[in-house]
Amino acid sequence: MGVSTAAHQIEGAHTADGKGPSIWDTFSGIKGKIQSGHHANHSCDFYNRYGEDICLMDQMNIPNFRFSLAWSRILPKGHGQANQKGIDYYNRLIDGCLERNIEPWVTLYHWDLPQELEHRGGWTNRDIVSWFQEYAHLCASQFGDRIKHWMVLNEPMVFVGAGYFLGVHAPGRRGIKSFLAATHHAALCQAEGGRILRNALPHAEIGTTYSCSHLEPFRPTLIRDHGATRRVDAILNRLFIEPGLGLGYPIADVPYLRRIQEFMRPGDEALLPFEFDFIGIQNYTREMVKYAFFTPFLQAALVPPKKRGVASTVMNWEVYPPAIYHILHKYNKYPQIKKLIITENGAAFPDQVVNGEVNDTQRLHYIQEHLKQVLKAKQEGVKVDGYFVWSFTDNFEWAEGYHPRFGLVYVDFETQQRIVKASGKWYTEFLNPSPFWTSPKNRGGDAAAAL
Ligand code: BGC
Repeated sequence: MGVSTAAHQIEGAHTADGKGPSIWDTFSGIKGKIQSGHHANHSCDFYNRYGEDICLMDQMNIPNFRFSLAWSRILPKGHGQANQKGIDYYNRLIDGCLERNIEPWVTLYHWDLPQELEHRGGWTNRDIVSWFQEYAHLCASQFGDRIKHWMVLNEPMVFVGAGYFLGVHAPGRRGIKSFLAATHHAALCQAEGGRILRNALPHAEIGTTYSCSHLEPFRPTLIRDHGATRRVDAILNRLFIEPGLGLGYPIADVPYLRRIQEFMRPGDEALLPFEFDFIGIQNYTREMVKYAFFTPFLQAALVPPKKRGVASTVMNWEVYPPAIYHILHKYNKYPQIKKLIITENGAAFPDQVVNGEVNDTQRLHYIQEHLKQVLKAKQEGVKVDGYFVWSFTDNFEWAEGYHPRFGLVYVDFETQQRIVKASGKWYTEFLNPSPFWTSPKNRGGDAAAAL
């Protein structure tokens, strides 16, 4: 059990101590890209306040903390000269967690590509594989003595789809060509990162994470909607995991994907698989899919919750707890997967501070109901072994800026004051440490221990 975060969303200190710019620093500076012109230059100021935040995490009985490393803090230009001050910061953060018996879980890449690399094509340039190798080697050698749990990539489908196809995330590129090139290179990096970590750190637990949405046909009686759902599933839920498991790209369901072969070199098929110790599942919602003749490539469209008249969050995502149960069963069917961990689940609701308190009953209920579904799946034999709430504190929610608040802890971004929300207080109680625990693994109450 734990909480998840990402460097760019919480650290702030965007130019401190030699950090180089990332694509998100650049993107946020372009007018109209982020809601209300927000940016993450200061964000939660976690770079300077990590000590207090870890202390709060400890008071909240949180035994596992997932965070990412900012590539451009460690290698300001993406490769070449390393930045010792950036490395020192992560050493302090890791040591701070360990001193408080909080187990650090590290993601190598959570979307903040060094801008210098984007100037050279970013994820569409095959050289990204060697840049990523260099970065992964460096992280393993600097932090591997203390980090036992690694995740290579965070949700490749989102950073490739939103960043290189739709253009709504950094670096804001569009089009099928850049999408296919970036997809193949990210799929190579996910496996390459796994191999580098495994060779350098044979005892570490190595995973990678995926965004997974439970999908259903909007009109169950229409065969066309079933076909549309299958195609969307192939792109949203299978595009990266299947080559990683040795099953290749899901070309049979989306024949257009065949064009990815233009970016493949002889021998690449053998480089795509890697045997991960765990697969990180990040689920927030269910999507309903309908056939849409005019949508290019997929002939499918998602029917938003507002049109369906169902409850949704500030992100316009349906609140539907059984989604996580179905998703766990879906991935459990892959025999190649050894273990599943929910590395993100949570919700944004409009929080209000009243008399110094945030009574976020909707979020509290959302987390409780999702946890019930996870436990149900586990009791039915699904190999799920862990759950992380997204997120510890409110933070910079990418293109939506600071509007959606996902935290268990409220952040006043003017004063940097933290207020533990009702959901955070409940989670603290749920994690209820036994006075007898000796290591982070033994921490947690009975229900929490079941995960
Ligand atoms: C991402 C997070 C993001 C969260 C909520 C996930 O897609 O990994 O960075 O903040 O969902 O949108």
